[in-house]
Amino acid sequence: MKKVGIIGVGEYLPEKVLTNADLEKMVDTSDEWITTRTGIKKRHLAAKGQATSDLAIRAAKAALEDAGLKPEDIDLIIVATITADMPFPSVASIVQNALSARNAAAFDVSAACAGFVYALSIARQFISQGTYKHALVIGAEKLSSVTDWKDRNTCVLFGDGAGACVLGETKSGGIISTYLGCDGSNLGLLNIPAGGSRLPASHETVDNRMHYIKMQGNELFKIAVKTMTEAAQIVLKQAGLSFKDVDMVVPHQANSRIIMAVAKKLGLTEDKIYLNIDRCGNMSSASTVTALVEAVKEGKIKKGDRVLLDCFGAGLVWGACVIEW
Ligand code: COA
Repeated sequence: MKKVGIIGVGEYLPEKVLTNADLEKMVDTSDEWITTRTGIKKRHLAAKGQATSDLAIRAAKAALEDAGLKPEDIDLIIVATITADMPFPSVASIVQNALSARNAAAFDVSAACAGFVYALSIARQFISQGTYKHALVIGAEKLSSVTDWKDRNTCVLFGDGAGACVLGETKSGGIISTYLGCDGSNLGLLNIPAGGSRLPASHETVDNRMHYIKMQGNELFKIAVKTMTEAAQIVLKQAGLSFKDVDMVVPHQANSRIIMAVAKKLGLTEDKIYLNIDRCGNMSSASTVTALVEAVKEGKIKKGDRVLLDCFGAGLVWGACVIEW
């Protein structure tokens, strides 16, 4: 088995920014409520006509440049997303074409907010077995396209963006351990009810606003804290490490109170946790990867550091990963 590491990173956040003050003009909310309940101050929104693949392509190009590789060096493209441009083909196919990555197989992964860690785990397997040499793993979302801008319970939470990593063989360190899980019994707590084969789009589904994200936030909150705590403990145990060995935790960015509750349970101090939720909101599959990219670019993750990724989302699904940078 080859050691697999992240050898290039990139991100793209759309130019348009929506602040809490802007939201105060749209729904019955306040900057104070959003900040204290979620930690979010602003979020990026894709432009009209900009699709998820457009964000993914920008992040992918940045990651390729960072890795010093050409598109033809990539054998595999995996895009984690729940907001594909269309039901099919995949965003990954669109990215493959846009990059002219003619040697790459390409597919999407749907695991909501844990999507990036799922995609990372899959790509790691392919490279460690020698099937592929270089993989592009992207988390990209245009959640603004499925957000109900009349629902204050949800519209204050989400944003758009994309992050990408290039994976390849490494001599030392790399991805040490991954852990994925699912409990489908609670899928009603967070979903988009219509638009699939169960309830195809109709006048009725549109009139009933069933193409937007529906969420039971406070139920999810409790499950998220418990699940992310357990996932972090399991993946570290698998790696033969303890929390003292971790230099930086990059969690899924759904709510800063969830993250701090997990940190408290695990005995982690705030300086070991990277957050971008204040300026990006929750970008589902794109959250963990953009936070990882930003932490690297800001020098908060350095060579030799041990990084813990810890995610939870709709499904319900979860994923954690330990990487030596
Ligand atoms: N502005 C002002 N008030 C709001 C509001 C908003 N944007 N959204 C909800 N409220 C109100 C509610 O109507 C409720 O009022 P009521 O008590 O009069 O009924 C009150 O605030 C409390 O609502 P509640 O849902 O209990 O708040 P909360 O503290 O649980 O925070 C979330 C709501 C959504 C921020 C929080 O539950 C959360 O982050 N949940 C987890 C999200 C998650 O993990 N998602 C899955 C991973 S992506």
